[in-house]
Parts: sequence; C-alpha cells; structure tokens
Amino acid sequence: MRNNDLHRVDYVTIITDDGSSTLRDPATGETFHSGFGAVTESKLVFIQNGLNYMIQNQSTARINLLEIGFGTGLNALLTLVEACRRSIQIEYTSIDAFPLSPENAAKLNFTQLAEFETFKNDFITFHNEAGMEQTFGNGLFKLKRIQTDLLEFEPAKSYFDLIYFDAFSPNVQPELWSLQVFTRLFMVLKPGGVLVTYSSKGVVKNALRESGFIVERLPGPPGKRHVLRALKPKN
Ligand SMILES: C[S@@+](CC[C@H](N)C(=O)[O-])C[C@H]1O[C@@H](n2cnc3c(N)ncnc32)[C@H](O)[C@@H]1O
Repeated sequence: MRNNDLHRVDYVTIITDDGSSTLRDPATGETFHSGFGAVTESKLVFIQNGLNYMIQNQSTARINLLEIGFGTGLNALLTLVEACRRSIQIEYTSIDAFPLSPENAAKLNFTQLAEFETFKNDFITFHNEAGMEQTFGNGLFKLKRIQTDLLEFEPAKSYFDLIYFDAFSPNVQPELWSLQVFTRLFMVLKPGGVLVTYSSKGVVKNALRESGFIVERLPGPPGKRHVLRALKPKN
C-alpha cells in the first residue's frame, strides 16, 4: 500500500446505489466509499455527524478541519457546499500519501449530479496542482492539500476543531488505525474537538478510547450498522 506509484493506478469506476460514483483499486479490491451509496455515506459520516454537529455545538468563527485521506475529494466537495450554503469559514487541510491523478478524478460523476453541478470547476481544480493551496466559495473555503504519509505527518498541536478520519479500512491498513496515530490526532485537536469516522470496529473504538477520546457509536448509513464520533474532552 505504501508505494509512491499508487496514485498512477488505473482505478476502476463503480456507480454506487445512490447513483454517485466511487473508485476501486483493482489490486487490493478496496473501494474509496461504500457501494451502498458514496454520497449518502459521506453526508452522514462526515457532514451530519461531524461538520453539522460541530456547527451546532461549538461557537467558533472559523472551523479548522483536518481530513485524513483526500482521495476522490468527495468529502471536500460536500464540505465546500455546506460552507457556501451556511456561509461559514472553513480551513480544510487534507493529507493523502497517494493523491489521485486528474485522469482518475475525471472518472468521477459527482459534479454531474444536479446538486453539485455548479461546483464542477472547483472540483476539477481540487485535483490539479493549483488545488494544493486555493480558496473556493468566495473565500469561505480554504483548501490546503498536502501529500504526506499519515505516519509522518506532524501538524501543530491544539489547532483543529474537527477531523474526518477517512483512511482505507483497518483490515487493509491496520497501522493507520493505531493507538499511536490516534494519540497524535488527539493532540492536534482543540479541547472540545471532534473526530468522525466510518469504522466502528472494536479495535478502532479501543484505540480511540485509550488515546483519551470519549467515543459515541451512531447509526450508520445503508449497509453499515454503526459509525463513530470521538470527542476530545473540554478539560
Ligand atoms: C478511503 S480513501 C479516502 C476517501 C476520501 N476522503 C474521499 O472523500 O474520496 C483513503 C485515502 O487514503 C490515502 N492513503 C493511503 N495510505 C495513506 C497513508 N499512509 N497516509 C496518508 N494517506 C493515505 C489513499 O491514497 C486514499 O486516497
């Protein structure tokens, strides 16, 4: 999995059950999203459980958000849409060790869906060189895309309000769902900060708890019983 040529992989496009697309790595069989609905899953796990929860429960003028795994850019797109809809400032830092090539990104149909079609040019820019550091949505959404390995990433402590933890599954990359990684992510969150993720496996819950998080199990999207939200206590 940790191979600098991976982003040159010719990913296979899949249309998921809600009509949105995702990609599958032909070598590992791993998909970037649930086959039961890519947009449906991302909206529930990251937007509803993470971003909307944060907006409702914290009074912060700007949300500093960290995403683990930029991938197709779907979470970034959904977050940009919310920033515009609610007129909120978001600084969106996203890391990926193996960014998608623009050719692979062009296989995705998100901006052919009616609700996202006005974001077509933004989505193309997300995956270009220019999208490494660029502002979208009339200045509301600032994207910083960083190519790095999560295991080597050392961001500033107590900086982020919210983390979207969207690595490939713990079955495929167990080293990314470890106590060591979650302890580091706990440190980079502000007190009261939140981490959301799609996996509710026992090992993930335990590693989050051991890192200091208070872990909540929430209803999952189609095809998944539960997902997680982990809170860093305020004091
Ligand atoms: C499930 S996908 C992310 C989906 C993405 N959030 C989206 O909205 O499409 C996981 C991503 O993690 C990246 N990745 C794999 N190993 C990594 C590592 N060691 N450090 C950082 N990113 C990694 C992959 O390249 C892939 O893009």
